[in-house]
Amino acid sequence: MNEKIDTSMPDERSFAPPADFAANAIAQAEIYDRAQSEGVEFWANQARELLHWHTPFTETLDWSDAPVAKWFADGALNVSYNCLDRHVEQGRGERVALHWEGEPGDSVSLTYAALTEQVKRAANVLLSLGIRAGDRVALYMPLIPEAVVAMLAVARIGAIHSVVFGGFSAESLRNRADDAGAKLVITADGGYRKGGVFALKPVVDQALASDGGQKTVQNVLVVRRGGNDIEWIDNRDLWWHEVMESASPEHEAQPFPAEQPLFILYTSGTTGKPKGILHTSGGYLTQAAFTHKNIFDLHAESDIYWCTADVGWITGHSYVVYGPLANGATQVIYEGTPDTPHPGRWWEIIQKYGVTIFYTAPTAIRSFMKLGSEIPDAFDLSTLRLLGSVGEPINPEAWMWYRDVIGAGKTPIVDTWWQTETGAIMISALPGVTSLKPGSAQVAVPGISIDILDDDGAGVPDGTGGLLVITEPWPSMLRGIWGDDERFRKTYWQKFGDKYFAGDGAKRDRDGDIWLLGRVDDVMNISGHRLSTAEIESSLVAHPMVAEAAVVGAADELTGQAVVAFVILLASEVGKLEAAEASAELRTHVAQQIGAIARPARIFIVPELPKTRSGKIMRRLLQDVAEGREIGDTTTLTDQSVLNIINAQVN
Ligand code: WTA
Repeated sequence: MNEKIDTSMPDERSFAPPADFAANAIAQAEIYDRAQSEGVEFWANQARELLHWHTPFTETLDWSDAPVAKWFADGALNVSYNCLDRHVEQGRGERVALHWEGEPGDSVSLTYAALTEQVKRAANVLLSLGIRAGDRVALYMPLIPEAVVAMLAVARIGAIHSVVFGGFSAESLRNRADDAGAKLVITADGGYRKGGVFALKPVVDQALASDGGQKTVQNVLVVRRGGNDIEWIDNRDLWWHEVMESASPEHEAQPFPAEQPLFILYTSGTTGKPKGILHTSGGYLTQAAFTHKNIFDLHAESDIYWCTADVGWITGHSYVVYGPLANGATQVIYEGTPDTPHPGRWWEIIQKYGVTIFYTAPTAIRSFMKLGSEIPDAFDLSTLRLLGSVGEPINPEAWMWYRDVIGAGKTPIVDTWWQTETGAIMISALPGVTSLKPGSAQVAVPGISIDILDDDGAGVPDGTGGLLVITEPWPSMLRGIWGDDERFRKTYWQKFGDKYFAGDGAKRDRDGDIWLLGRVDDVMNISGHRLSTAEIESSLVAHPMVAEAAVVGAADELTGQAVVAFVILLASEVGKLEAAEASAELRTHVAQQIGAIARPARIFIVPELPKTRSGKIMRRLLQDVAEGREIGDTTTLTDQSVLNIINAQVN
């Protein structure tokens, strides 16, 4: 078994749903029995109930080409129509879809009617630029309404979006645009963060520079947001506001097959190259809408929902754009950082809009906890009735603080486990049904089958750590890795055959509740963002000063894990720079190459790395060093003295 897994028994506290919440909850206890007895038909019923089908489907699941599933394959729908037009046609056009708050304090509220009109115009713009169904469009944008408009416009015409988080570097953007063969990039001049403008268009220019060999991108559409100076390439670059103004506001959404690709989203894996996770339309939208409605108990006519994720991550796709809009929700989106211009900014936004459902990440909760409850206490948070958590395990202390300070000691908290690959939530409490246990993600979503296995594929007893698997296909599952079918099969399906291997460790307690224990592979989780040790290592060795590098995720109180690197310099470079200078230069180098989120928290310049006889770096030992622990089993290490040397260097 993987040594990283902690198998101590969990916390035993439990909180039943408040009676009034339980009585009015959308999902009641019977849903588990219904899902059980209906089997895959449960999902067919959700698909019919929650979505509009231009052509109703007659087949639910085709698993004959496993592990590539087809859901609702002979049905046809339009994802954008489902998120927009149908709400307007059914008389909900005046309902606010987005309350957008800019970081400097500007704001705009867009109704479903207004958002629909913008998306129709944007669809016409895309068509006029020659974008057709199946073409790829890369987005590199701040969190502004235009990002949502762009995603829905791409979806509307059956094209495929690939959103690249605005914090990634030019090189990361170029690699992703190349891999997807994007024809168009949609960006902004810049956006607001931490009280200033951060430039985006210049990064796009750099990514597309001809010496970089970018050949597929033909146009760049630029939203004016930051007002920063930018360079312009005539014939390639277009201002969003100009083309939007002249575009027709009429556009009739055409149906596409349920398996029409909807988006590619790159995420880190265990090798240096990010994986383009491919999602399709009907199954994805069904599960995004179903989980959003039932797990967040969305009463669309009265709730104000806020998920703090950026659209650059899967959470922003499923729980900012597709789930909430398919359900006709009213939601808040916020461009900036939580502490700008003051540390109470988020709580001020909750007060301003009367947010009722709030979904964020443990790392944010822990950083607020550290600042103290006086900050949220100064705002009226009494409208909140449900809280959610995602991205990493939430420690029981942070869970309790979240409930007590943000949730007035009474709101249910749903801790939702899922992945870019799963497309939608897979493990979570149902807030009106489940008695909550701080720190546990609890139970499989109705219609989802989860198990915990040992390395040989046998079930583990309760209380014992094992590997998390999904045993049956689910509607929003990834359909592959873009352009790399073999990697898709190897990464997720090779280990357990027909069961999906998630890469996470988990255990069940004696009530059958699931506790997530972190990744068991070389993927790190920094502030809820996935980063690959291999990707950062290859960035480090690309620096002319570096001979070898090993990266580990070391436990960190605030960010869950922190990137710690051990670097051997080339013999010719040793002694040229002070160790502190060399590590500062390398930290900057990684931030420039991959993006600021990948910048190592610490870099140690060492003379050697611990290796096995076959030459494999023993990361586990480095992790012990980085976390200041006693060093574990070193029997397979070739040279025992290496660790003493490293330890001497680090301390
Ligand atoms: C981790 C984010 C524990 C997990 C939606 C998973 C979690 C990875 C939780 C996916 C949770 C996500 N409890 N761990 N509630 N949610 N994770 O693809 O390790 O960015 O494999 O998707 O985050 O990260 P991704």
